Amino acid sequence: MRRTVTILGATGSIGRSTRAVIAENPEQLQIAALVAGRDAVGLARIARETGASFAAIADEGQGGELAAALAGSGIRHGAGREAVLEAVERDSDIVVSAISGAAGLEATFAALTPGRVVALANKESLVCAGAAVMGRARAVGTRVLPLDSEHNALFQVLGAEPISAVRTMTLTASGGPFRTWSAERIAGATPEQALAHPNYAMGAKITIDSASMMNKGLELIEASFLFGLGAEQLEVLVHPQQIVHGLVTFRDGSVSAGMAVPDMRVAAAHCLGIDGRLDAPPSRFLDLVAAGPLVFERPDLARFPALRLAMAALAEGGAAPAVLNAANEIAVEAFLAGRIGFPAIPALVEAVCARARSVSRPPADVAEALAVDQDARNRARALLSEGGFAVT
Ligand SMILES: NC(=O)c1ccc[n+]([C@@H]2O[C@H](COP(=O)([O-])OP(=O)(O)OC[C@H]3O[C@@H](n4cnc5c(N)ncnc54)[C@H](OP(=O)(O)O)[C@@H]3O)[C@@H](O)[C@H]2O)c1
Repeated sequence: MRRTVTILGATGSIGRSTRAVIAENPEQLQIAALVAGRDAVGLARIARETGASFAAIADEGQGGELAAALAGSGIRHGAGREAVLEAVERDSDIVVSAISGAAGLEATFAALTPGRVVALANKESLVCAGAAVMGRARAVGTRVLPLDSEHNALFQVLGAEPISAVRTMTLTASGGPFRTWSAERIAGATPEQALAHPNYAMGAKITIDSASMMNKGLELIEASFLFGLGAEQLEVLVHPQQIVHGLVTFRDGSVSAGMAVPDMRVAAAHCLGIDGRLDAPPSRFLDLVAAGPLVFERPDLARFPALRLAMAALAEGGAAPAVLNAANEIAVEAFLAGRIGFPAIPALVEAVCARARSVSRPPADVAEALAVDQDARNRARALLSEGGFAVT
């Protein structure tokens, strides 16, 4: 029997990788529903190509465009929050959570239903409300499989070992386009330079996060909730080739590495295969000799302060990660819009975190997480409009 897959964030980079794996395995996998944010025409095209039964666009204003683009197809569709939730609630064995940012939290949470697999790429869901998301998954019996490549590697390496066997988990980072740049040069980085990721073609937000290394900080927080480890057991190594995605050091000194070519279709295939393995085409097999020497470096927290801030939020716990994430989303938006320079991203995040009301309890549910998120966004916007971070 073919497994059915609903994709949240179908028009994005992870959506594309997921669709590619499904297209490679038509006997095993079939699309159920699709969700996108604003790209109605792209969503309609994908829905027609994949034979989806339902397509939802989050932006209400795009409903007419989606209806026009799907006219005559027989594909049911809707627009706005209710339509997104309808897509999630429709029958499917696997939900791929790949909306960008905290905007993905509500739909991801709604996808946690008994017996389902949620393949989680949307790390911000765990950063904002990790305790609530993982608690609900356990309570209702949803399997959360990490689609983020580092976490997917760590998950596979851990296998059936108990988490008590683990001394540390190491997440690798490419180091982004500014890995070898001086702090002075990074200070003048343009959006175009920051968007030039060395290994992956990803959405704009995660690409900027990779350049600032905030992405690795968000991933540390994600890992802490996925695996139940504290900050002191989670480490980062810069590894520009991105062949080793994660390392597990066990208590007896054994170290196991999760490796693969840097291609998100590998992690997507693992999640979509659930307990079996799907076949990959030859280009997706790792040739270690061709990959050349593998380099590992310690992250430089002075040149990449965003990683330091995320580590501090992880150590602080409570609502601190949700505040950090919201401030970062506003800062990245402002940087991409040319309103602030690159160093103002961590500076704004730090300022918002410093002013945030200290909430020691993690958000208990989506509503609480979104309230913290909104409050931090308001603070970030207020600081931006005061002008202290503006590009001169
Ligand atoms: N790309 C990667 O290699 C990678 C790797 C690991 C983890 N991740 C994580 O996966 C997530 C997606 O990343 P991405 O690179 O695929 O981003 P992306 O290319 O920007 O795609 C984002 C997707 O989310 C949709 N979307 C945006 N806002 C939405 C909303 N309010 N409601 C519903 N849908 C919305 C977009 O729809 P429109 O196109 O219509 O705007 C698009 O389909 C992020 O959390 C990222 O951290 C990505």
